[in-house]
Amino acid sequence: MGGDRRLPGDGVNVAVIGTGRVGLVTGACLASLGHTVACMDADETRVAMLREGRAPFYEPGLDDLVGDGLASATLRFVDTVAEAVQGAEVAFICVGRPPVGRDDRSLSAVEDAARAVAKSAPQGLVVVVKSTVPPGTNRRVAQVVATERADLEFDVASNPEFLREGRAVEDTLRPDRLVVGASGERTLDALRRLYEPILDAGCRLIETDPATAELAKLSSNAFLALKISYANGLARLAERTGADVADVVDILGSDPRIGREFLGAGLGYGGYCLPKDVAMLEKTASRAGYDFGLLREVARINDEAVEAVVRTVEEAVWNLEGKRVTLLGAAFKPGTDDVRAAPSLTLARRLLDAGAEVVVWDPKAAKHAAEELPALGISEDPYEAAVGASCAVVCTDWPELRELDLGHLGGGMAERVIVDARNALDEEEARAAGFRYVPIGRAAD
Ligand code: UGA
Repeated sequence: MGGDRRLPGDGVNVAVIGTGRVGLVTGACLASLGHTVACMDADETRVAMLREGRAPFYEPGLDDLVGDGLASATLRFVDTVAEAVQGAEVAFICVGRPPVGRDDRSLSAVEDAARAVAKSAPQGLVVVVKSTVPPGTNRRVAQVVATERADLEFDVASNPEFLREGRAVEDTLRPDRLVVGASGERTLDALRRLYEPILDAGCRLIETDPATAELAKLSSNAFLALKISYANGLARLAERTGADVADVVDILGSDPRIGREFLGAGLGYGGYCLPKDVAMLEKTASRAGYDFGLLREVARINDEAVEAVVRTVEEAVWNLEGKRVTLLGAAFKPGTDDVRAAPSLTLARRLLDAGAEVVVWDPKAAKHAAEELPALGISEDPYEAAVGASCAVVCTDWPELRELDLGHLGGGMAERVIVDARNALDEEEARAAGFRYVPIGRAAD
């Protein structure tokens, strides 16, 4: 089965539903591996832009892959599901989820996509859910497809992705593991062929059942969030006990059983995935009759991380009313223009509410920050952004920060104060430039 849809060579004919960060990166990477890919999005403007070779968001290497795919005709963009799945052997569902909170509707995009795929699916189609979903979703998708098309022979599988924004292409082409949750050998075979070059390069393939793959994906993100909140909890404790959290996490992290990554204390985690996935896992547990209170604490400590920085800024400038505060960084993390659930914006809102004037510099995300929060001032130039400020706050750990001429930055400020909410700068250098340097997770001098 499916042989008639195989392309010359070993290429697989693939449909990708949704051209968000996961869908577009997946589609462009699969095309670069020699498959023929049709990416579908209902947003015609987005499709038109993609047909011109322009990605709708910043992701290193993506524009080139899209351009190459279009030029070699291995990648095309369509605006109907019917066109995308025509002749496809595998269809990936990569649609987004609305924010958790709009609980019961939160997976309706996945359901709608499954229904639309079923309507036009060729016989033997393997429907793969890539969107991050709670365990049990594959079963639901299979029910929807079967209800929609009683005549259809199909399979459903889970193939979660672990790509990080800002490194999405690299993570997709050179992942540290591939996870496939499927029940049939035929499905496993299709996915093995799809990922053959990656598997040949030595990547581990973990084959499991769909519910396990779904839970593993959600719990990976929640665990990363847990590590960050652990570090932030330690930061609060260090501030009160005279310890230095930066050293504490270095010591902790040098135990290979713990690991140093994701123990960076600061403003906390943001973005499209971690906050939602912590909430989704907690809700999944609660619906299943298990009170996973640890996850509520993870979220609480994350909210508290921003509040701690608000207090630190207040402490540094005394009265916020009428003062200018410069935020160095708006993106939820470096390497992206994404400000979704960015802690910098929560901080900005709190400072604006207290009467401060807030100006933001970010090498990629300043425009998006101002769209989200029009009361913000923005500047393309960090030195200009700092003019007249009583305090600068490091919100995103951009590598560009370490190249700043701190003397120049401080020269234009009303007061030379830096709150380093990512513990990213060199303290000696900041002090040498005349700054009062306030890191996170250390008692005030
Ligand atoms: C996250 C996961 O890392 C990916 O594996 C996963 O595939 C992805 O979600 C997803 O589900 O699509 P991403 O949202 O790109 O990736 O962001 P991360 O790199 O995980 O960073 C999340 C947040 O944690 C950022 O706001 C970052 O600043 C913060 N962080 C990270 C810290 O506060 N401290 C740290 O030590 C590390």
